[in-house]
Amino acid sequence: MQLTHKNILLTGAAGGIGQAIAAKLSAAGARLSLVGRNPETLAATLASLTPQPADHQMVVADINNPEGRATIVEHCTRQSVDIVINCAGVMAFGLYEEQDQSSIEAMITTNLLAPMLLCQQLIPQLKQRSEAAIVNVGSIFGSIGHPGFTGYCASKHGLRGFSEALQRELADTSVKVAYLAPRATDTEFNSAAVVALNKALGNSMDSPDLVAAELISLLENDQPRRFMGWPEKLFVKINGLFPNIVSGALIKSLPLVKQHSKSN
Ligand SMILES: NC(=O)c1ccc[n+]([C@@H]2O[C@H](COP(=O)([O-])OP(=O)(O)OC[C@H]3O[C@@H](n4cnc5c(N)ncnc54)[C@H](OP(=O)(O)O)[C@@H]3O)[C@@H](O)[C@H]2O)c1
Repeated sequence: MQLTHKNILLTGAAGGIGQAIAAKLSAAGARLSLVGRNPETLAATLASLTPQPADHQMVVADINNPEGRATIVEHCTRQSVDIVINCAGVMAFGLYEEQDQSSIEAMITTNLLAPMLLCQQLIPQLKQRSEAAIVNVGSIFGSIGHPGFTGYCASKHGLRGFSEALQRELADTSVKVAYLAPRATDTEFNSAAVVALNKALGNSMDSPDLVAAELISLLENDQPRRFMGWPEKLFVKINGLFPNIVSGALIKSLPLVKQHSKSN
């Protein structure tokens, strides 16, 4: 899909990965609608974009409430949005039995339910475009259940299943559905405890720029899914075929997960 002059709605636009996606899409000549809850950080993201087409816009909205989603849907109708990128997300690290119910609820709502409901409301108008797309930003943890990230894994496994089913359901329409699964990425999304855990486990962190480049390439090549990182993408395949092998490896990391969850 050609991105020049496309109207693109991006949630999580002021976040680490969102800002990098916005920068690359702007450089590719797309017209952006940047969604977030904080007008100041959204305005700063908007001001950082080059070139500075007057066409970029901000949409201040909380995707977790119906009013926020209604604001987004009205905006998309006015702007004839062609592409929707669901990038907003939250994560709480820690042992599942010790987590607040409110943070479990926030992960399921922000990472899964809100994008599902937004997509449902936007599909009728996307179908009117000759070329349209939905991209859901998931995670490698949407394919591999990792101790210490149980609620987050549940939300991203759900998002992956949703994206796959929707992609197949809309296969005979103009709307392409894609799922991008980054591995750990260097943004404020990861608390100091998560960064320390990744270091202790020897896990690499990608730059937000690399994730943004993968997302653009996914869209430009009309691909339905992409998993990032080596060996992470291999583990995704092994986990699908032989989950006990991955369980064996991850159980060994359990003492480190427990140790770092205490400092979270
Ligand atoms: N960083 C990683 O290691 C990593 C790895 C794999 C996948 N991912 C996924 O990549 C995506 C982006 O992550 P990131 O690293 O860029 O995180 P980030 O820097 O924390 O940004 C997340 C963004 O989500 C927005 N957001 C959260 N709740 C929202 C809500 N209720 N309504 C509207 N916006 C909301 C926040 O915007 P405001 O606070 O301004 O509203 C924030 O800008 C997430 O879906 C995440 O799961 C991240």
